[in-house]
Amino acid sequence: MDTPYHHLHAPPYYPPLLPEEQPSDAGTPASHRKPFKGFAAILASAIFLLSLVALIINQTQKPLPSQNNIVPTSKPTSFSNPEPRGVAEGVSAKSNSHLLRNIKGSYNWTNAMFTWQRTSFHFQPEKNWMNDPNGPLFYKGWYHLFYQYNPDSAVWGNITWGHAVSADLIHWLYLPIAMVPDQWYDINGVWTGSATILPDGQIVMLYTGSTDKSVQVQNLAYPADPSDPLLLDWVKYPGNPVLVPPRHIGPKDFRDPTTAWAGPDGKWRLTIGSKIGKTGISLVYQTTDFKTYELLDEYLHAVPGTGMWECVDFYPVAINGSVGLDTSATGPGIKHVLKASLDDTKVDHYAIGTYNPANDKWTPDNPEEDVGIGLKWDYGRYYASKSFYDPYKKRRIVWGWINETDTESDDLEKGWASVQTIPRTVLYDNKTGSNVVQWPVEEIESLRQNSTVFEEVVVEPGSVVPLDIGVATQVILHTISLKLLVTLIWLLIF
Ligand SMILES: *[C@@H]1O[C@H](CO)[C@@H](O)[C@H](O)[C@H]1NC(C)=O
Ligand SMILES: *[C@@H]1O[C@H](CO)[C@@H](O)[C@H](O)[C@H]1NC(C)=O
Ligand SMILES: *[C@@H]1O[C@H](CO)[C@@H](O)[C@H](O)[C@H]1NC(C)=O
Ligand SMILES: *[C@@H]1O[C@H](CO)[C@@H](O)[C@H](O)[C@H]1NC(C)=O
Ligand SMILES: *[C@@H]1O[C@H](CO)[C@@H](O)[C@H](O)[C@H]1NC(C)=O
Ligand SMILES: *[C@@H]1O[C@H](CO)[C@@H](O)[C@H](O)[C@H]1NC(C)=O
Repeated sequence: MDTPYHHLHAPPYYPPLLPEEQPSDAGTPASHRKPFKGFAAILASAIFLLSLVALIINQTQKPLPSQNNIVPTSKPTSFSNPEPRGVAEGVSAKSNSHLLRNIKGSYNWTNAMFTWQRTSFHFQPEKNWMNDPNGPLFYKGWYHLFYQYNPDSAVWGNITWGHAVSADLIHWLYLPIAMVPDQWYDINGVWTGSATILPDGQIVMLYTGSTDKSVQVQNLAYPADPSDPLLLDWVKYPGNPVLVPPRHIGPKDFRDPTTAWAGPDGKWRLTIGSKIGKTGISLVYQTTDFKTYELLDEYLHAVPGTGMWECVDFYPVAINGSVGLDTSATGPGIKHVLKASLDDTKVDHYAIGTYNPANDKWTPDNPEEDVGIGLKWDYGRYYASKSFYDPYKKRRIVWGWINETDTESDDLEKGWASVQTIPRTVLYDNKTGSNVVQWPVEEIESLRQNSTVFEEVVVEPGSVVPLDIGVATQVILHTISLKLLVTLIWLLIF
């Protein structure tokens, strides 16, 4: 395997964490601070310490070289409350938040601030808008990530499939766009989809296209040259679309096909999220060739009140193992995770339950913690997650899309929007039996360079406590904060 590492976009340093100039309205005036109590104090101290550490890192960092500075040099004109994009198409609006803006007018961003806002370790394109992760897979030594991508702008629009590969899930090589809207059945967007790797190694990619009439249909694509480990060229099946919305389903409520799994009868199944009224549902199709499909009468699952299900993810987890399972695995000792991204709330929810391959129905272990009314996948800003099985390291890995709190006009100024999470391995939690455990992929450890322990650091309100740490350091702080609580905080400085 010839790994073109010299092309990789490895971040050998941190961007500076503080701007060259401070905007005049940054931060809250000290007089507005209120006394903290209880856990608020822990949280506040953690945030405070984190910013301290950030301050210190800043003092030790070199600025980014200019070729990495993707910020437009000309100052864009001001944007007055632009219409949010993509909402009708199932993509959330970036807010024009009153909390962030319009208090004293627009925030005065500097180029330096835009530069340090780019991440060093989370995946993001070189520029422009990104949303859902698509079709992640492992092929001939490479991890592939596709993603919803606007090649033209930092706001949602002209959605294509961006493409990148990595040998370690940490350092990424940007590749040419894999698919663009160029057919009547996807001219309004090459939307989210998933990869299925057949037993003979063939890759089947299914994705949602938004047609010339903005109807959501499912399309088939495959690599033009399966011997190419980078899978640079993709062919859209001439018979597309392979699936159109069934009669009882709204033409705009039919998107994001999952990875397929094989049943005991040898047929493939896949599921697609939708809704009937306010009930979130998951349609099941069976196929043998991925070109013709049979829709089952019954849903994989349905939960009243949860609204449109997007980006459904469905896969097995071993109840007594430490490895991930291929999507088609069934049998004793296996439970199934059903995840849906709730369009109404923009939250990823999941539940653990039992899949019956005989009738292709899934039943939650605990109906009171059903999909959409129980566990969230992540309690932060996180959406449209998608998993894949990594046969190389025998693990299931989940990607998720994180969007920033800033506004569309800020995104246009900074030239990009959104990052992906650090990929996480997912396992059934055999201690509780009621949830999964997620952990950043082990490769993340390769980024650590140093570890330093600080004992009993006292942080007074308003005080500055310099900590001597290196680059990419794991810091362990034993703190007495605000003289209220003693806490132990692990800060993973990434
Ligand atoms: C931003 O900069 C402009 C021009 O220098 C200035 O008029 C404005 O008051 C600044 N806004 C804030 C919020 O600092
Ligand atoms: C994206 O950001 C906006 C603005 O902060 C927020 O309202 C929206 O829910 C976010 N969408 C997702 C999918 O996280
Ligand atoms: C969308 O992006 C592709 C790839 O850059 C480009 O070829 C196409 O012209 C764009 N479509 C529109 C409508 O701008
Ligand atoms: C429980 O899960 C862990 C991994 O999360 C695994 O190492 C361990 O073997 C499992 N225990 C049993 C009894 O299966
Ligand atoms: C669970 O453990 C049993 C006994 O060790 C083993 O036979 C079985 O294959 C395991 N199941 C899975 C799904 O790992
Ligand atoms: C780790 O950090 C400490 C404190 O900054 C420093 O003295 C030491 O040289 C660093 N070690 C390495 C290997 O960078």
